Amino acid sequence: MLDLVLAIVHHVLIFGIFGILFAELMAVRLDVSSATAARIASIDLWYGIFAGAVVIIGFCRANFAAKGWTYYSHNAFFWAKIMTFAGIGLLSVPPTIVFVRWRRAGIAPDDAGIGKVRRYVHVELALFVLMLIFAAAMARGYGEF
Ligand code: HEM
Repeated sequence: MLDLVLAIVHHVLIFGIFGILFAELMAVRLDVSSATAARIASIDLWYGIFAGAVVIIGFCRANFAAKGWTYYSHNAFFWAKIMTFAGIGLLSVPPTIVFVRWRRAGIAPDDAGIGKVRRYVHVELALFVLMLIFAAAMARGYGEF
């Protein structure tokens, strides 16, 4: 039962993160107004909350759910997934700093800043897809060592 509940919450959080990242990409466009910039900063806060929750639920699954920590700690795809998630976390720092700066300034962001943020979010989304591949391989026992 615990395995089922954790799996459901894990998937809901993953869809949430994907939705938030996609919303950021759609919102950060060349004609961003100061009001939209403030809204993007609050969307980004939700991204942080969901990312924190997925780490907690993910490690609960790895430790307390069906297969146990020994299974995952000896799986290369599990570690690839964790490293990729850490990479996404690092890549999300520069956009977050920019969003906070936009909100504080209260003025419409310039085109160069918008282009930079979009590049970061694109890479984050691409890595997210990679994580889905790693997750499926890991769950099926590929990459055991
Ligand atoms: C540090 C964060 C994370 C940890 C520790 C973690 C851990 C886990 C664990 C233990 C499972 C169970 C696999 C099994 O059934 O044997 C799982 C499944 C899964 N995870 Fe994560 N996860 C994390 C973040 C993510 C993220 C961000 C994504 C989104 C890309 C993701 C996508 C998936 C998917 C799609 C599955 C289901 C795989 C399947 O059954 O085919 N996980 N995860």
